[in-house]
Amino acid sequence: MAEILFTGGRLIDPLSGTDTTADVRVSGGRVVEVGSGITATGAETIDISGAVICPGFIDLHVHLREPGREDEETVATGSAAAARGGFTAVGAMPNTDPVCDNAAVADKVAAAARRAGLCEVIPAGSLTKGLEGRYITPIGEMVTCSAGVRMFTDDGKGVQDSRILRRAMEYIKGFDAICAEHCDDAALSEGGQMHEGYYSDLLGLKGMPAAAEDIALARDLVLARLTGVRYHALHVSTQGSVELIRQAKAQGVRVTAEVTPHHLILTDAELQSFDPVNKVNPPLRSSSDMEACRVGLADGTLDAIATDHAPHSREEKESEFELAPPGMIGLETALALMISEIVDPGILTLAELVRRLTSVPAGILRLAGQGAVAEGSPANLTVFDPSAEWVVDPATFVSKSRNTPFKGRKVKGKVLHTVFGGSLVVRNGDIVPEYEAALSVGTSFGAAQ
Ligand code: DOR
Repeated sequence: MAEILFTGGRLIDPLSGTDTTADVRVSGGRVVEVGSGITATGAETIDISGAVICPGFIDLHVHLREPGREDEETVATGSAAAARGGFTAVGAMPNTDPVCDNAAVADKVAAAARRAGLCEVIPAGSLTKGLEGRYITPIGEMVTCSAGVRMFTDDGKGVQDSRILRRAMEYIKGFDAICAEHCDDAALSEGGQMHEGYYSDLLGLKGMPAAAEDIALARDLVLARLTGVRYHALHVSTQGSVELIRQAKAQGVRVTAEVTPHHLILTDAELQSFDPVNKVNPPLRSSSDMEACRVGLADGTLDAIATDHAPHSREEKESEFELAPPGMIGLETALALMISEIVDPGILTLAELVRRLTSVPAGILRLAGQGAVAEGSPANLTVFDPSAEWVVDPATFVSKSRNTPFKGRKVKGKVLHTVFGGSLVVRNGDIVPEYEAALSVGTSFGAAQ
């Protein structure tokens, strides 16, 4: 593990409130020195004047597709996409095949991530077996396994049965883990292709009403209050949801929430192209929903920004609209989109954006020592140039999938270097060559332990 000295960067450390020019020295996997005029003979010295250095980003919500759909992404390629996007820890959703509904799958995902060595992957366990909504999973077994599962969700769908959800919440509360929900009343949204509104009428596509999300979230918040569980609302997308979370927080319910870059930037008007790249669940909403999400992000109702990185194969995404699966990738574009569309228009300051990508998600997941740049903290760091302009070109992605709606968009803000566990895994925007071998492995599940 090399010794690295970053000099002359703007250090943004949200936990200590630091925002100043400083040098940062990394050694033995830890941040060992933060200050000015640091010298270190033998260390690799990287001048990062003009760039920001901050804790590694943490994404609460990604889909890595392994096991089961390694043609779309593997733990290794998803980790590489994360690293290239400046992320050093990601929460992997359980809707794999087999489902991550037991400790064996969770441990395998975490072990595959350790082999790739590009970022930490914290598997989320499903709330119900096989995501079928009927039987609660062995939550205790998953919390205590070596992967250390700390979030439980049936993401992709919501738990429809209130009694099952209540019991799952009680079980989860006993371990002080998180119950996270994809808020969706399936009876209202079933068969829906897009947000229900003006554009679904215009295009003749079946709509998913905002009420399906609002009703499910309202029920969940009632149960979260009843059980006292730590509850997390995944990919909030409606005005009603933002208002419900605002009220619940004011009333002391233990609720946190995330919002995706796409729900902050795009609306259902995009669907006019009939391009399934814009199909996502929850769907792109109306402009007033998007505006409410922006206000909710700005005032802290929505705590964290999470990508919901959802890789899909080209064949499936380019099939006819009704058949195409929902989802879009986001790890390699999140920072630039947020600087261009959220910081530049003044919705968040750059330092606050960094906080929503680092110490806030670290706090939600209780990742000890992460989300900070302090002497002794784990050396998970991101260095980015906030003013570098580039054009989104999916052909350059290290993700196995290309399903981004932002192709061709001019954006600002580029990840230069990512340090994970004290090692440079991304240098000058590219994966460091020694980690590239992991990317060509079709699946790491079958590999020797
Ligand atoms: O659009 C989505 N895609 N939403 C989800 O909740 C699941 C995800 C996926 O797995 O593709």
